[in-house]
Amino acid sequence: MEIISITIYTLLFLMAFIPPLLGKKPFTYYVSKGAYSSAIIQSEIFLKINRRLSFIWAGLFALAFLLVQIKFSPYSAENILLSNGVAFLPQILIGIPLSVFLPKIMMKSPSARLHFDTIKDAFESMPYGLNKEMARDVDVVVQFDLSGEEAGVRHLIIKDQVCTQHQGGHSDPTLIITADSKLWLDITNGDVDGTDAFLTKKYTLEGDASIMQKFEKLFDASALEEEGVERIQDYNYKTIHSKKIKNIVVFDGGMRNKKLSKTTLMVDEFIRGAITQGANVESFKLSELDISLCDGCYTCWSKTPGECVHKDSMTELREKYRNADLIVFASPLFIFNVTGIMKSFMDRLLPILEPYMLLDEQGHISHPDRYPERGEQGFVVFSAAGFPDVDNNFDGLKGMYRAWDSHNENTHLMGEFFLTAAEVLAQPIYKNRRESVKEVCYKAGIQVVQEGKIDFSLMASVSNTGITNKTFQKQADNFWATLDAKKAYLRAVPKL
Ligand SMILES: Cc1cc2nc3c(=O)[nH]c(=O)nc-3n(C[C@H](O)[C@H](O)[C@H](O)COP(=O)(O)O)c2cc1C
Repeated sequence: MEIISITIYTLLFLMAFIPPLLGKKPFTYYVSKGAYSSAIIQSEIFLKINRRLSFIWAGLFALAFLLVQIKFSPYSAENILLSNGVAFLPQILIGIPLSVFLPKIMMKSPSARLHFDTIKDAFESMPYGLNKEMARDVDVVVQFDLSGEEAGVRHLIIKDQVCTQHQGGHSDPTLIITADSKLWLDITNGDVDGTDAFLTKKYTLEGDASIMQKFEKLFDASALEEEGVERIQDYNYKTIHSKKIKNIVVFDGGMRNKKLSKTTLMVDEFIRGAITQGANVESFKLSELDISLCDGCYTCWSKTPGECVHKDSMTELREKYRNADLIVFASPLFIFNVTGIMKSFMDRLLPILEPYMLLDEQGHISHPDRYPERGEQGFVVFSAAGFPDVDNNFDGLKGMYRAWDSHNENTHLMGEFFLTAAEVLAQPIYKNRRESVKEVCYKAGIQVVQEGKIDFSLMASVSNTGITNKTFQKQADNFWATLDAKKAYLRAVPKL
């Protein structure tokens, strides 16, 4: 009996050890291949996994070869049972678990980049390639309506950090991707840029497209969650009495309408929140009003104190400004500052100040308030910008409003909302971020009336895009590259 076991383990050892040593496919490859898609079977990583597994099995068979020869009992029957049992144990305890888990672990390695020949292959491989870290909190059903060579409907369910793939449609998909099957195969293989293809309308999305922001990374083993730059609090925002804010006046210095302006998007939500707390709100779109440039004549400080020579919309706007408990300055970022019309509006506020100089205890110099009887008022600044960073970019705008704060006795800066990468955030894949920006501004509107202050975390959240400058650059360039003007420019530009 012992000789039979020794012979069997010798043969098994040779079967496990020799083929991978000679560069041939190991026996585990043939055993496991039925359980995987052909893209995985053909991949280098699959062969590598199986070579390692085969050597491990060779070691286990060699161990068994030794164990079956140990005398565990003087009784022959008992000894056969014990020596074969002990020899078999490592195979059950080590060999089988390793054979199950090693492929799963190794398939997640960054070198496990697969190339797919068919859509069927790609889909069958996806469950193995899910990057669990990236899939944290993901709960989606993505349906693919594919046409062309491999036409058909399939869907992926990604939930609880597990991906499963299914044939046919789903009754309630989160997102439907309609594409040519060959195009989708090229995108999956990384031969075609997915964002570029979407922007040039080569495939369409229906439903919540926000998952597309990280779809590729969900199946990239080396991908890490992007972290945008966190905005640091560098200003002491003021608090005013919580019962004080009843009248809010918005001065919107943007040039675009509600459909396009990201500055207005934030302000509208802020106002919506404030109204729920009983605030009255009046809004003025400066570009639609008659606002002349300041002549710098100082007539408002000399001949007619408090009155400007220009009889235009500013007469009413100054009064609205004076009577507001909270002023909202809204301006897109134009060359690191407010828009021209907003700057003219700010200049034309000069008559509300007295010409004399006020020196405070800290040695700061400013002009006294011409209407101190109105008491304290707060102001909040909203600005949307194209670039993804706050530092440097907003410095001009920030500088002006912070100086407005420090140079006005009764008018206090309560918050600054700087929306970064505003244009790329208009893309469908950023739906979640847009919604979160809206929610944050809405909350700020509630808080400012309820508590007379705004938490810095709300302001910081609007500025944190959650994307790195590198991703921003790629997406912004993709966007601009789709415009005809850019294409025409690139065609015409002289080549060196
Ligand atoms: C004339 C002009 C100047 C701009 N200057 C800047 C700038 O200095 N920094 C920046 O990040 N974005 C800049 N942008 C981009 C805008 O800030 C961005 O498009 C923003 O979304 C506009 O706000 P809105 O959506 O409220 O209109 C500029 C845009 C224009 C048209």
